Amino acid sequence: MDTEEQARVALVTGGTAGLGLALVRALAAEGWHVVTDGRSEERITAAGLPPAVTVVPGDVTDDEHRAALVAAVEEEGRLDLLVHNASTLGPLPMRPLAEATVGDLQQVWRTNVGAPLVLTGALLPWLREAGGVVLSLSSDAAVQHYGTWGLYGASKAALDHVTLTYGAETGLAAYAVDPGDMRTAMHQDAFPGEDISDRPLPETVVPRLLRLLAERPASGRYRADEVEVGLG
Ligand SMILES: NC(=O)c1ccc[n+]([C@@H]2O[C@H](COP(=O)([O-])OP(=O)(O)OC[C@H]3O[C@@H](n4cnc5c(N)ncnc54)[C@H](OP(=O)(O)O)[C@@H]3O)[C@@H](O)[C@H]2O)c1
Repeated sequence: MDTEEQARVALVTGGTAGLGLALVRALAAEGWHVVTDGRSEERITAAGLPPAVTVVPGDVTDDEHRAALVAAVEEEGRLDLLVHNASTLGPLPMRPLAEATVGDLQQVWRTNVGAPLVLTGALLPWLREAGGVVLSLSSDAAVQHYGTWGLYGASKAALDHVTLTYGAETGLAAYAVDPGDMRTAMHQDAFPGEDISDRPLPETVVPRLLRLLAERPASGRYRADEVEVGLG
């Protein structure tokens, strides 16, 4: 098959719930082939993803699992988009930095920084070949300082740095995007017992991510609510 006729391929980590699931569904609906993952078999089954989506069950912090993700990309034979979406808030309930242990830090950084760092490195040949994009889901906590959000916020600041340094080193388009508050399981975990029904659904953020990918502005940090949609 000629390259022009091949479906574009994305790897989206954490595509079985929340924003990742909404993005995976939207990409598949636009004709992309998508590789994704998630740890919970229950969530994988409940997601009911279409045939264009290959789910590789597992944890992004696990070396063998990441090797399986890379193998799934090799099976597809190309990679146009790598999205680092899987993430952890750290120990719950969230707590002040003075109560954090080195183990807590390691757990958060392994998921939010370490896994994206090494997965991007492993997939660079494929991304270079396709002139692909690296997109990491960041947070306002990466640039603002909220009590009890220190471990997570610092990890997102580091993720931004790693993502944008990859852009500088490779010339690939690299984006760190703050999606804004969304009505998801992670957000409910951050605000236990609180009614979060006023937060927008993750599906509302997806068109902004797709717009960014279509327009390919300069590599950098973006807020999803600053990306204009529906202007043609
Ligand atoms: N929700 C918000 O308000 C908000 C605001 C700012 C930024 N963000 C960022 O936006 C992104 C999406 O957030 P979300 O609220 O949609 O999260 P979510 O509802 O918690 O969904 C996270 C997804 O990632 C998977 N996942 C988590 N840890 C994983 C791991 N170690 N290995 C593989 N898969 C893993 C989860 O499945 P399993 O648990 O089954 O593995 C799930 O599919 C995150 O990067 C988050 O930090 C969210």
